[in-house]
Amino acid sequence: MRALVSDAGKLARYFLQALRLKIGLVWKWGSMHSILVIDDERAVRTTIAEIMEDEGYTAFVAEDAAAGLDMLSQKEISIVILDVLLPGIGGIAALEMIRAQWPEIEVIVISGHANIDTAVRAVKLGAFDYLEKPLSIDRLSTVCRNAISLISLREENTELKRGAAGGIELIGNSPQIERVRALIRQAAGSDARILITGENGSGKELAARAVHKLSSRANAAFVEVNCAAIPDNLIESELFGHEKGAFTDAVSRRRGRFELASGGTLFLDEIGDMSLNAQAKVLRAIQEQKIERIGGEKSINVDVRIVAATNKNLEEACANGSFRRDLFFRLNVIPIHISALRERTADIEPLLNHFLCEAGARAFTFDDDARSYLAEYPWPGNVRELKNLAERIAVLCDDDHIGRGVLENLFLPRNGGKALDGEVSCQNILDGDIFETPYSQAKEMFEKRYLEYQLKKNGYIMSRTADAIGMYPGNLHAKLRKFGIEKKV
Ligand SMILES: Nc1ncnc2c1ncn2[C@@H]1O[C@H](COP(=O)(O)OP(=O)(O)OP(=O)(O)O)[C@@H](O)[C@H]1O
Ligand SMILES: [Mg+2]
Repeated sequence: MRALVSDAGKLARYFLQALRLKIGLVWKWGSMHSILVIDDERAVRTTIAEIMEDEGYTAFVAEDAAAGLDMLSQKEISIVILDVLLPGIGGIAALEMIRAQWPEIEVIVISGHANIDTAVRAVKLGAFDYLEKPLSIDRLSTVCRNAISLISLREENTELKRGAAGGIELIGNSPQIERVRALIRQAAGSDARILITGENGSGKELAARAVHKLSSRANAAFVEVNCAAIPDNLIESELFGHEKGAFTDAVSRRRGRFELASGGTLFLDEIGDMSLNAQAKVLRAIQEQKIERIGGEKSINVDVRIVAATNKNLEEACANGSFRRDLFFRLNVIPIHISALRERTADIEPLLNHFLCEAGARAFTFDDDARSYLAEYPWPGNVRELKNLAERIAVLCDDDHIGRGVLENLFLPRNGGKALDGEVSCQNILDGDIFETPYSQAKEMFEKRYLEYQLKKNGYIMSRTADAIGMYPGNLHAKLRKFGIEKKV
């Protein structure tokens, strides 16, 4: 009998440890991940299976490789925990078969006969990790979680590619974003005008581009006009162009955005910020499908599909007279509203994974507390803010495991990053020159400030600080020594 169940005392200890370590459930978006344990020792396989069930996985067991392979062809398994010494087909041969047939499955090899050659061979053959018996439940749980993170990242990546191929790169599983995607798909084929509304950073431009990509105009131009950025006296020339000599600065003939977009899509961004004067001209161009360059004598036919966007409430603007009601009706043929991120918290995690992946980050795990923090945070900058957070995590975070403390104190300084009671605040960690500094130096600057902040926050109590930031006390001591941080008492 091998380690995990080699004696009753050890087994009881493992169970206690497993209970203590219960770190929350491991969900595959919407469904549970499944684990298959292949081990000829009944007690070993059932014990591991029970512990895995306890941690939120669905567990299956098989007594030999043949039964295990059979099960893999019937069930949707994410991870296989595979013993090396098995009757019949051996563990290493089984590993080769699994990798060849189900490359998406991660295999964790376990053995009581610790042998460095076997370990190296297993990893070379594509095992996710190799664990020696007696198994530490702690270690097994961590390895499984890391494997799940890798699988999730891969799935997100595939979804992203699929999305890109389908022309819609709007990530998210919430009913709201599903509806936005469905509306885009339905509306893209027609030339109907679309009005996209939503807060800053919610994805309006991305949605507008998706409409264009999915439309029959995809091979023609997508021309963007930021109505808020163009001064009122220039907007007419920007939109409709001008003839040479039409006004003092018109040294040559210039085509406007309506003309440039002809055959394609004209994206009128921030339309709510357009002056009433410009609104009247846009309305005329839309109604007549014709424009005149400033200083020009003939009218030019333009065939544009208009997609407009705003973060303003245009109905209110119509009511108070700052937006033309007739233009509003012309634009609002198909309204698409993108909800604020705080109203669709189901999108946070897939978006975060997507942006981490985009930033080339390794796999991070977020504990339940960190997840609820992300769900509770109000996201005033919406998806753009989440994207920035992901980039900061990718660059600044050393630990693969992200807890609430890290997010709370480090990445999302709330209350404007107010200092606890002194000079060391979250905000000033990220302010200043850190982003203009070479990576290794920036990382050290950041680490030092972070540790100073955490020490102060935790009353300079080493054990409490180590606990709060999820670092071993020994490592914390070493870091403090490295950065010359005083351990005040
Ligand atoms: N659902 C999504 N999936 C993937 N990326 C997204 C999603 N929504 C927004 N983004 C990304 O977030 C950032 C902000 O999005 P976008 O520029 O489309 O927002 P916006 O609503 O136009 O913002 P603003 O009002 O400030 O102009 C972009 O980098 C965009 O690619
Ligand atoms: Mg925008």
